[in-house]
Amino acid sequence: MVERIEEIEAEAKAAVEAAGSASELEEARVRYLGRKAELTGILRGIADLPPEQRGPVGSTGNKVRKALEAMIEEKAEGLRNAELERSLAEDRIDVTLPGSPARAAGHIHPITRTRRMIEDVMIGLGYQVMEGPEVEHDYYNFTALNHPEGHPARMLQDTFYVEAEGHDEEVLLRTHTSPMQVRAMETNKPPLFMIVPGKTYRRDSDATHSPMFHQVEGLAVGEGITLADLKGTLLAMLREIFGPDREIRMRPHFFPFTEPSVEFDVSCFRCGGSGQLGDGSRCGLCKGIGWIELGGAGMVDPNVFGFVADAGYDPDSVTGFAFGFGIERIAMLRHGVGDLRLFFDNDVRMLEQFS
Ligand code: PHE
Repeated sequence: MVERIEEIEAEAKAAVEAAGSASELEEARVRYLGRKAELTGILRGIADLPPEQRGPVGSTGNKVRKALEAMIEEKAEGLRNAELERSLAEDRIDVTLPGSPARAAGHIHPITRTRRMIEDVMIGLGYQVMEGPEVEHDYYNFTALNHPEGHPARMLQDTFYVEAEGHDEEVLLRTHTSPMQVRAMETNKPPLFMIVPGKTYRRDSDATHSPMFHQVEGLAVGEGITLADLKGTLLAMLREIFGPDREIRMRPHFFPFTEPSVEFDVSCFRCGGSGQLGDGSRCGLCKGIGWIELGGAGMVDPNVFGFVADAGYDPDSVTGFAFGFGIERIAMLRHGVGDLRLFFDNDVRMLEQFS
């Protein structure tokens, strides 16, 4: 009986060694260690053997069973490793290849398109495009823009302050693109004609305000620049954006860094400025007013020039105008989008309408 067990062992070892896959190995396991296997039968029948055989058969049988179990486990592990090596070598995917079928290329986000359109218009008027930091010093965002201490825009509820180690003064997310007026004048002598598109941040959130939004700043400085130049520039720009029949108007307003300051409106392009639609009903776009409010502007305050006088901006010899407006607002008006947040939800069903 002991010899028979040793024969089974040799046979089983050969079968395990020959197994080339997990299923072949499982077949061998069932054949040699399963419930109906010969070795299992022998071990189960030990009690019926003559007493002097029980010891040797039992110990040899159990030893062989343990050895086979260990060998099968080891072989299974070997097969798993081989399978992993194989799939690593063969199933290599080049993630840089286009999908199959290739996905249609996307298109430019409506805010980016609007920004580029404004840039094109202003480059055509002789302006250069500059960009500036979104994380800004209090000095550029407020102080050098003539914001007095305690101005509401400086308060925590309006502005995101940032903890910045190693900076003596306060650091914040810029609340407008106007800080670039000062930075641009520091490094460029007059005459200067530039625009600054970019992200700005305020603690605002509703259908027409988002904590992050985009502005375009404009600045023109030189000798003899007047409010009439501001009006002509805004008119030329807004006619390019909203159509050649548009008019503009300026209303008195206040900004710390311009004097005088205005808000500017464009005549409504839906009702032609009459406030009424063809059927006599009230125009919904301008709410029957005929004008659409767009942004702020004014003549650069001499106090602002005072901060950059060393760079060549003597308040007694140069004058200039500045303006600023929101890019989302232009995009909402041009495309009839009622909720600004739709631009940032990134729902392709919305964005695909602007291809
Ligand atoms: N920075 C102002 C704002 O965000 C707009 C503005 C720009 C006003 C330039 C005047 C001159 O409201």
